[in-house]
Amino acid sequence: MADEHAPKDEIKEDQDQVADESREGGSARVSRRQFLVGAGTGLVVGAAGAAGVLTLVKPAPEPPPVKTPVPPPQPLPAAADLPPTMRRVSLNINGKGYEVVTDVRQSLWEVMTYDLGMAGANLGCDRAQCGACTVLIDGKPVNSCAVLAARLGKGQKIMTVEGLAKGTRVEDLHPIQRAFWQEGGLQCGLCTRGLIMSTYALLTQNPSPTEDDVREALSGNICRCSEYPKIYESVFRAADDMRKKG
Ligand code: FES
Ligand code: FES
Repeated sequence: MADEHAPKDEIKEDQDQVADESREGGSARVSRRQFLVGAGTGLVVGAAGAAGVLTLVKPAPEPPPVKTPVPPPQPLPAAADLPPTMRRVSLNINGKGYEVVTDVRQSLWEVMTYDLGMAGANLGCDRAQCGACTVLIDGKPVNSCAVLAARLGKGQKIMTVEGLAKGTRVEDLHPIQRAFWQEGGLQCGLCTRGLIMSTYALLTQNPSPTEDDVREALSGNICRCSEYPKIYESVFRAADDMRKKG
């Protein structure tokens, strides 16, 4: 390849030489087009030597991806072996069972987020005031920041926003999720997962709510961005869509 800093007449000389050799059937049968598609054919043009002769070299093969070994899951200690501040708990979240060992002071939100790596609830105030962390326990909205995980494990069914959609495509979203998106019922989104879960709890109990019903059902969910008009529109649109779907 010609040195980009070489004088123009030197580059021209190199190009002429390549063209001559190509016409003459020389060793460097390289055209300008091949320069451009070289990568596509698995070949690249090597550097020109002192004499300006081009050579074809194969790119070095990609190294195989490094596989990080996944450590085998460690068995949880038996409940009798735990210190007094720890509990072993079986949680049912979005229809799936999880066995966890938790400190008795840990909230459900902490266990779901830090121990189980879930992202189904946001943390706002962490003191049961804003509703950002709302999940459903047996169909009822609760603040997951204020529920101790160690008090669960008695067969309760926990549901987060992750349990609503069937997939990641728009058409796979739950009608409530889709309605919030279509109506623009969010700005920063901090409150949205909690609002969606409170809306789900409302609409599964009351498919045709009045505005007072909606205000009452969402009264525990604070939107710092004050998107309430669009949030209510989202709820009514979701109610319409869910009724149509039957
Ligand atoms: S983060 Fe739980 S109520 Fe605010
Ligand atoms: S959209 Fe920002 S807090 Fe509600």
